Amino acid sequence: MQALIAVLAGDGIGGEVTAEAVRALEAVAARFGHELRFEAALLGGAAIDAAGDALPAATLALCRRADAVLLGAVGGPKWSDPHAKVRPEQGLLQLRKALGLFANLRPVVPHPALLDASPIKAELLRGVDIMVVRELTGGIYFGEKRHSAEEAVDVCRYTLEEIERVVRLAAGLARTRRRKLTSIDKANVLETSRLWRSTVERVLPSEFPDVNFEHMLVDAAAMHLLKRPRDFDVIVTENMFGDILTDEASMLAGSLGILPSASLGAGARGLFEPIHGSAPDIAGRGIANPYAAILSAAMLLRYSLKLHAEADALEAAVSRAVVSGALPADLAAPGTLGVTTRAAGDAVLTAL
Ligand code: IPM
Ligand code: MG
Repeated sequence: MQALIAVLAGDGIGGEVTAEAVRALEAVAARFGHELRFEAALLGGAAIDAAGDALPAATLALCRRADAVLLGAVGGPKWSDPHAKVRPEQGLLQLRKALGLFANLRPVVPHPALLDASPIKAELLRGVDIMVVRELTGGIYFGEKRHSAEEAVDVCRYTLEEIERVVRLAAGLARTRRRKLTSIDKANVLETSRLWRSTVERVLPSEFPDVNFEHMLVDAAAMHLLKRPRDFDVIVTENMFGDILTDEASMLAGSLGILPSASLGAGARGLFEPIHGSAPDIAGRGIANPYAAILSAAMLLRYSLKLHAEADALEAAVSRAVVSGALPADLAAPGTLGVTTRAAGDAVLTAL
């Protein structure tokens, strides 16, 4: 097949890790006989510096033309002045919204060879396979905002339709897995959560009678994720709870550096990015972990291009690279030096 991939490296380590993801995609394309074209554009702080805008029109136009978007990370101390008119993160949020990417899939599957990299006991981690579906274009991220000297306001708002579509997507995923859906909310306090809960209660039994579902309050969920992570299959939750819980859940896999994500909407075009940030502290040193970016590229193959065998092959290659001991600093045993970003990417290519 032929496809156009928009590559938005963003800031910090974004460029280093997306370079490895592009190399991996090129290798997969060569092996399976596909023609992938890559076009780069600016996003985030890099775009603010060059164009005064975190999401330049040319970048959005490229993303709309592309079959999929591969993204690195945005943000950094250079652009974190609280009084700045425009912040790198706004570029990412606007892009998610403009492309209608309402569901963010974040798989958390600890690699058997990395159980010791996690601060959680290995016996709790064996067999953990969680798919978090985070609502991505609603909630407190996108509600009305005000800020004066005396007061600041962030409104959390959800419409019925916003909840229904993400719940349906998550329940559909559960159907292809272990048929269990945990909906996480704060219905004992928040109105938006009460609408969320009643929607789950209506949609699941009528449209997905074969999927078991449960509700869990977000504070309890934060605890159960560490206490009994194996019990979760698909999790569906609102934007901010999903943001927080997935950073927590990444510790089950050993590091933020290995967790990919896929942001999906109604069509096939998705945006694929690591869940980690721009890591300004290690940017430019060639030591960032590229596995989350490469695994995001595998999700791109699966969800946007529908190339399932190719996605499986790339995921298997990352797994073999990990088993071969190609571990960047965030995963390497304490006191040992990790491999470079390039060496980890090379290990994936070798495995492919
Ligand atoms: C994420 C990030 C973003 C978010 C930031 C960079 C705006 O933390 O993708 O999890 O909060 O959604
Ligand atoms: Mg986050």
